[in-house]
Amino acid sequence: MLVEHRALENYWHVVAEVADVGSEPLAVRLLARDLVLWRGPSGGLVAAPDRCPHREAPLSSGVVHDGCLSCPYHGWTFGAEGRCVLVPSSGDGRPVPPAAHLRTMRVAERYGLVWVCPGEPVLPIPTITADDDPAYRRINTGVDVWSVSAGRMTDNFLDISHFPYVHTGTFGIESNTEVPKIELAQLDDDFYGYEYTVEVGNEAGAQSSGIDTAVVTRRMTTGFNLPFTVRSTIQYETGLDHLILLCSTPVDDVTSLFTFVIWRNDDHSVPAEDVIAFDRAIGAEDKRMLERVRGVLPLDQHETVSVQSDRPSVEWRRRLLVALRDGATGGGDRGSE
Ligand code: FES
Ligand SMILES: [Fe+2]
Repeated sequence: MLVEHRALENYWHVVAEVADVGSEPLAVRLLARDLVLWRGPSGGLVAAPDRCPHREAPLSSGVVHDGCLSCPYHGWTFGAEGRCVLVPSSGDGRPVPPAAHLRTMRVAERYGLVWVCPGEPVLPIPTITADDDPAYRRINTGVDVWSVSAGRMTDNFLDISHFPYVHTGTFGIESNTEVPKIELAQLDDDFYGYEYTVEVGNEAGAQSSGIDTAVVTRRMTTGFNLPFTVRSTIQYETGLDHLILLCSTPVDDVTSLFTFVIWRNDDHSVPAEDVIAFDRAIGAEDKRMLERVRGVLPLDQHETVSVQSDRPSVEWRRRLLVALRDGATGGGDRGSE
């Protein structure tokens, strides 16, 4: 099983988009635990177990006033850093029981995403340098729920040998089945993976690529950052760069959140909705396939058969297993080698 690995608590996981957190508390589920998110008195996010310490009511059913979250059951109210600031039944001036304060966890906003680390982070949130580059625009795409184990998603995002089978409705070329030899390398501080060149069908993607030929050549890199983040970079011959950060979050063993973020150095002439629509169609093809595969991807590599084209996934799984067993880190230079 996957989520029983406590070491997963020591990584950052995407639980929502920043735009999802409004004036109401937001319920999210991570690693089989219910959490509540809200914007605290100083404007920063607060993340805590979605359980009132009084009688366990879901705090996500409560209301937020001036950054303080009130429980819907008896009105206990929680402010900055989850501290209980009011127990109405006790009247004014009575001290609050120390155990009434919420055990908050680390939460960060990056790339329009809300990241939570329930434990002590062993790796930072991966750096996407394009995010600070004014030549690039960032496009957030929403969060979807997949009935798939997060491990199967990451395995899929590192794999190109499924393109001619799974992606025939978007960019896969059915005859293009052979995968050139893959050489793995450190791509930068945070991502480990490979570079490759691939010919893809361009009829459905002509608007996104800005090229009107039936087939286009993409220069690509694909790499992982533990535990479940994959970055793909696509470079077209026109100089257009299209980066995708693919985030899979274990809700439980066989349910995951999926969100992706796009960065492009384009002239904004293609509306964001159209860029999203094409990449979302690709994701939907993966989702359709993966939701037919049952259970958790075995981390023991002897339980599945791998070939040369699976090298990136084999290496990701090897490092993930080490990280989960030993509490070690991996995926980037930072502490992994
Ligand atoms: S259960 Fe929350 S105040 Fe009683
Ligand atoms: Fe795919």
